[in-house]
Order: sequence, then structure tokens, then C-alpha cells
Amino acid sequence: MTGHDKIAVVDFGGQYAHLIATKVRRLKVLAEILQPEDPAERFAAYKGIILSGSPALSSHDEDSAYDKAIYDLPIPILGFCFGHQEIAKRYGGQVEHAQREYGPAILRILGTSPIFEGLGEEETVWMSHGDTVTVLPPGFREIGASIVPGGDPHPNAAIANDGLKRYGFQFHPEVDDTVHGEAMIANFVLKICGCRPDWTVQRVEEEVLEEIRRQAGDRPVFLLASGGVDSTVCAVLLGTALGPEKVHLLHVDNGLMRKGECDAVLAEFRRRGWEANLHFADASARFLEALKGVVAPEAKRRIIGDTFLEVFEDEAARLDLGGCLLAQGTIYPDTIETGGTRRADVIKTHHNRVPAVEAMIAEGRVIEPLKDLYKVEVRELGEALGLPDFLVWRHPFPGPGLGIRLLCSDGEPVMPEPGAAEALGRLARGAGIGAGLLPIRSVGVKADLRSYEHPVLIWKARPADAETLAARIFQEVPGVNRCVLDLSGKGFSRIRPLPATVTRERLDLLREADALVMEGLRRHGLYREVWQCPTVLVPLEVDGAGREFIVVRPVLSERAMTARPAVLPQSLLRELAESLSVLPGISGVGLDVTTKPPGTIEWE
Ligand code: XMP
Repeated sequence: MTGHDKIAVVDFGGQYAHLIATKVRRLKVLAEILQPEDPAERFAAYKGIILSGSPALSSHDEDSAYDKAIYDLPIPILGFCFGHQEIAKRYGGQVEHAQREYGPAILRILGTSPIFEGLGEEETVWMSHGDTVTVLPPGFREIGASIVPGGDPHPNAAIANDGLKRYGFQFHPEVDDTVHGEAMIANFVLKICGCRPDWTVQRVEEEVLEEIRRQAGDRPVFLLASGGVDSTVCAVLLGTALGPEKVHLLHVDNGLMRKGECDAVLAEFRRRGWEANLHFADASARFLEALKGVVAPEAKRRIIGDTFLEVFEDEAARLDLGGCLLAQGTIYPDTIETGGTRRADVIKTHHNRVPAVEAMIAEGRVIEPLKDLYKVEVRELGEALGLPDFLVWRHPFPGPGLGIRLLCSDGEPVMPEPGAAEALGRLARGAGIGAGLLPIRSVGVKADLRSYEHPVLIWKARPADAETLAARIFQEVPGVNRCVLDLSGKGFSRIRPLPATVTRERLDLLREADALVMEGLRRHGLYREVWQCPTVLVPLEVDGAGREFIVVRPVLSERAMTARPAVLPQSLLRELAESLSVLPGISGVGLDVTTKPPGTIEWE
């Protein structure tokens, strides 16, 4: 996007850069992610530079191989954590591996500085570092120290050279735990860099529409419309820019969608003027056939992905859309993350970057109207375009859909690590609760790697205590990555895995359960507050009658990198326990109370 004042955010890894860019964009100033490898000349187009934090250590010169010529540019620079230490080093200060601080801290502001304008004398900030600026660079002054209760203040928590417009914060103003972090970022972006806040949703809409018309010209466009917020907003933008008669939409039912979803999505497109160009393929039988008898989670994912591409190719050929441009609802983080950053998150296969699509991109035949926007901005745009709430605020739904929420098993119990049962028994007795290791495994994430470990079931515990108990279990019991509270409160003496694969009956059961959970969240006005809430069908028999266990997993999250269990009101938990347990085929209901890490949001 051109013609706007903009800020460059240098991505030194971790998840900080996207958070920083999001916070700048909330000020209606465009922020773009640049890589450390980018040459200094690229930065000349920006009115300010923010250096992100990094998992690397500045004191050991790790990750410091970026173009230092950025410091010669007459552009204000602000660094956070690793970025702060890099600025200090560049101007002759010293950084040492000393003085760790993690979590909230109090920042005492020293003297006056434009970057802290309008803030109090003390501010709550969020720290996460092992390296510290121990010697201030010449020409810089200390504008903030962090206070440790009962200890000496940590110096150089914020430093500045007002003449050069170089600023560094040891803390992370981009996270919500830094209470006035946004005000600090606003001071930098709007006052120190002087950016005009003109990146409004109306301007974004106008520019996106203009760009679509420029790229498409007279050519028709083809879009796979899954019904998710990104592809739906993309479809409506294309329809607005080119007219629905120029835009072919294909909606595929893979049999793994939510209850009533396909009908609702198709109805909305019809309401928006699509008729002849709205194509629907019911490929559910084909997906079921491909998944027949498959148990391993990653095999299921691969089969679902491959089948989807096959269906897509067949439909494109059937509809004779060879002359069309391909449109995709790719959003900003997808383009950055597939572009080879060191982000270790390989969880999602980006269908929009498979080789066939890459080849079309190279030929200039792919159009991605949302490629510069974050999800929150796509939602704002959706609202501005008048899309209904149920589409704009829809929870994120994984590409493989219910396929990865329908756990499968060969019926063989998976035994826990030696010592795990004893450790759990000790903990449960001490805490006065019931607890058992489940004889299956689910996916988790530990130290950035996926892990397959055991869930623990607990009972006779209050939901309010469950998260704390779970944290203790993860610390004390080996080989465990998930904790589920039994909502019946009784617990079970005998639990065994049932042989189960992907079948239409099990999918219908899960669809029904998922619909009850979604309805419950809406009834209690919690649908928006809860970030995502998978309902998972687990082939565990708890009643000796061959019926399965169902787990509800409400989470709060920002970008799914980390998550906390959402606390649901007792009344809703009771309603869910009652309505789910009477579904035919269900004998027990659990509430997943696991943070990510160590558990992932999905169970597989
Ligand atoms: P996890 O389970 O890894 O999920 O904590 C993080 C986010 O990604 C979604 N997810 C997927 N999305 N294909 C997708 O398109 C997948 O295979 C997939 N697996 C997980 C998940 O729903 C959550 O929002």
C-alpha cells in the first residue's frame, strides 16, 4: 500500500513483530514487517523503525547480522528488549547476560521525555529478558528504571537520545500487560515520527477495490469460498469491485463442516447477488472414502489437504475456469510466515502457497486482496461492507475442519510413562481430588515442538481451581500435556479406548455436539469473548456400554500462538453437561482446562 506514512517493524523472531505491527495499525498508521536481511535502502520509505524483541541473545551477538546502515538513516528508531539492547550496543553501550526479569514490573520514569508524554511517574510494564544494558551509550540518558520490590532498581529499562531520536525499552510495550504500552507506541509513531493517522478502514477499502480492478482488468476471477471470514470478505470485495457476474465462487462441502454451515454460507452469497456463478460441490462422500480406516492424525490432515486439492482441480476443470484469475483470502501473517521466517510454527499447511499456486503467482494469475491485512482488520472491513455478525465474528475454524476434532483409535490403550500414575496419585491425594491418566494421546506443544502425550482427567475439583491444578499436574507428572475436568463430577473407575475411525455417523454426532456448544456460548453472550471453542469427540469408553467421551475446549487467545482456558459460568457448564451427555453415543463430558503450552488448542 502506498501514499501512507508508515512504520517498519524489523522481525527478529518470536511472535513480537506481528503484535507490534498490530498495535501501530490500531493507531491508523500502516506498519509493515521487514526482515533483518533487508538492506537499509528499503527502510528509507518509512517514517520510523521499530526493532522487535528476539529469542536470541544480544550479549552473545546472536541474530545481530542485520544491516547496521539503518542507524545512519535520519529516521527515528525505537527498540524493544533485544532491539533496545542492539541500539545500546550500536552507540557504544554495553549489554551483559545479567539481571533476569520475567513478568510484570514497575517502571519508574526518570526526567521528561516525549516518548513518555502523558504517562504517570510509575507504570506497570511487562518484562521477559536475561540480557541487560549495563553501560549506557554516550549521548544517551536513562529515562526509566524498573523497580524490584525490596531490591535495587534495574537501571536502563528505558533509554533515549532525543537528538538522534533513538529510544530503547527493555520491556515489551506491545503486550497488553504493559498497561500504557499503546500510549508509548503512539507517542513514538504519531509525535516523534510525525506519522499522519490516515490508514482508516474506508481508505483501506477504497485502495483494495482499486487494486482488484487494476489487477483483474476484464478477466473473470475464481475464488474458493469456505465461509470463513477471510474468504467471505474477499468474495464480497471482489463482487463489489468487479460485479458478481465476473466472480465465480466455489463452496466445497468436505463433510467436515459445522451443522448447517454450507447452507448459511450459500444463502449469504445469494443474498449478495450471486446466482449463476455460485458453484457448490458436495464432496463429502469423496472425503469420507479417502479417510476410511485412517487413524493417525497427521495422515488424516494430509489426506484431507490432498483430497481438497483434487476436488478443487476437478471442479475448476469441470467449470472450465482456465482463463480465470485465482483469488485467495490469504492474509498478512500467512504471506510473512510462508516467506521463510524463522518462526517455528509449522502447524498449518498453507494451501494458498502449494507449488501449483506458486506457479500461478509467478505468472501473475493470483490475486490476494487481503494480503496486507491482519485478521482484526479483515473483520473491520467485513463490518464496513455490511456482512452479518455470524460471518464476521465466526471463530477460527481449521482447514481440516471437524476431521481433526474427531479423534480416532485402533482400540489399543497407550500406556503412560513409568512413574506417571504414582506421581498423579500422590498429587490427587494431596489436593483431595480424583485423577486418572487417559489411555490415549493428544497433541501438545513443548519448547516449540509438537508432542504426543497423555491427557489427565480430574474430578471432584471446582472449575475455578482446575487451571491451577492443571499447572501443578504438568509440573509434577511426566508425559502429560493436557488436563480435562469431568463435568459429571463423579469420575470413572474404568476407562478404555474404543476402536474408532472417521465415519458419517460419528461426524454427525460431533456436529450435533458442536452446535449445542456454539448455541450455549451465544445464549450466554460469550461467543465473541471466547476466541475459539473446539468440541472434540474422544473414543474413550467410560460407561462400559461402548459410548464415547466428549470434550469442550473454550480458549482465550490472541493469535493462537498461546492460549488460556476460558472460564465459563457454572450455569453454562451445567447446561452443556446435561445436553451433551444425553446425545446418543455419548456417556461423559469433559472440560479442557489446559493452557497452550503445554497443550495445543486442537487435540490432534
Ligand atoms: P493448535 O491446535 O496448534 O492450533 O494450537 C492453533 C490454531 O490453528 C488452527 N489449526 C489449524 N488450522 N489447518 C488449519 O488451517 C490445520 O491443520 C490446523 N491445526 C490447527 C487451530 O484451530 C487454532 O486456531
